[in-house]
Amino acid sequence: MAPPMRRKCRPKVSDQEIRDQVLVFLLAGHETTAGALTFTLHLLGRQARLQDEVAAEPTLLRAALLEGMRHRFTSEPDRPRYAYFPFGGGPRSCIGEHFALLEAVELLGRLLARYRIEALDPQLRTSTHVTLRPAGQVRARLIPR
Ligand code: HEM
Repeated sequence: MAPPMRRKCRPKVSDQEIRDQVLVFLLAGHETTAGALTFTLHLLGRQARLQDEVAAEPTLLRAALLEGMRHRFTSEPDRPRYAYFPFGGGPRSCIGEHFALLEAVELLGRLLARYRIEALDPQLRTSTHVTLRPAGQVRARLIPR
């Protein structure tokens, strides 16, 4: 028999709080993931051989995304823990990290399976807002495989 319904089981968050949380997730999750994918696709779009390798090997998709989110740094072994932390760190680090990588890897994989990307801009100018993003359009040609 089903357990009796608990009458006092009310949510502890108000409708306003739920609305605000949804808004935060939309804002925090949209521009960030779009930016990471844009930079990754642009970089892959400039390296046809690497792009084919990534398209053929699903385990490389995640590596390509992580690479797309970093600034250049040298490979000295004593690099500080926080030299690379695109999702922040500590108790306030990004709550959406795993979801973001999951959806971005999925999207990148599907896109590269269907199209070869050809970046049309040799260099991207960036502009800093809440996130670092391209300063204008990012032009690319999508060629069906
Ligand atoms: C590539 C994609 C993403 C990047 C690079 C990114 C990066 C970050 C960074 C750097 C922070 C600040 C961490 C800190 O203050 O130390 C953060 C916070 C946050 N992110 Fe993301 N994020 C991404 C995707 C997402 C997605 C998809 C969601 C939700 C669906 C999300 C939700 C949040 C929230 C709610 C916070 C605030 C956490 C808190 O203050 O406790 N993010 N993110």
